[in-house]
Amino acid sequence: MDHSRREAFLELVRSRGPLVVPSMLMCDFGHLAQEVQRLEQAGVQALHLDVMDGHFVPNSTYGLLLVETFQRISRLPLDVHLMISNPEQYVERYIEAGAWTLTVHLEAVPEPGGVLERIRRLGVAAGLALNPETPLEKLIPWLSHCDYVVVMTVSPGYGGQQLQHHALEKAVRLRQDFPELLMEVDGGIKHANAAEVVRAGANLLAVGSAIFRHHDYGQAVSELEEQIRQGQTSEKGPC
Ligand code: DX5
Ligand code: ZN
Repeated sequence: MDHSRREAFLELVRSRGPLVVPSMLMCDFGHLAQEVQRLEQAGVQALHLDVMDGHFVPNSTYGLLLVETFQRISRLPLDVHLMISNPEQYVERYIEAGAWTLTVHLEAVPEPGGVLERIRRLGVAAGLALNPETPLEKLIPWLSHCDYVVVMTVSPGYGGQQLQHHALEKAVRLRQDFPELLMEVDGGIKHANAAEVVRAGANLLAVGSAIFRHHDYGQAVSELEEQIRQGQTSEKGPC
């Protein structure tokens, strides 16, 4: 497979980030094409797909078939978050289904170097996610094997939870120590804390309920983008 998805995604984040990436967990699956269209019209640049297996997390959502469906109904890059045990068994199939990124959890694969390198070799951006309770020190040895990290700010499994500030602190520390690292923050991001998430160093903000519980997705996204701009301005400090 060529490397165009990986490079295109990383270039998108570097040139256009920080980006709001809607997490589709709470969308109306009865009207999927319209939901995607509403998000495209809102100007989003990628979709975040939460795959859960009922084993690694106590909830089960969707898998290959729905990722394939999203690929069919949208040209947006698909940011695929695998909350599954043994993700290494499914890498090729999720790439075939249309993933532009594949995130695996450090808690599911304690030695993730091999699977991350395989994802990269197959032309897809490789991400490593860390649960709120997992210490940052466990992630550091694997940084050279991934294209981005995902700092989970809720326990994975459900949308609509509160952001855990102690987990966001890990993003702050990572950003201080690794200024060039691409970082996604996932869980509990709302209009009220999006600026803080950007100040913590996020390049990608996976947002579910703050978009899907809003009656107007366009407004929800543009208000989040406004908060991102505010976070970037305050990040630089007074000139
Ligand atoms: C949690 C998922 C998230 C989450 C985002 O397990 O990975 O992507 O659903 O939804 P909100 O923004 O509602 O926390
Ligand atoms: Zn997610």
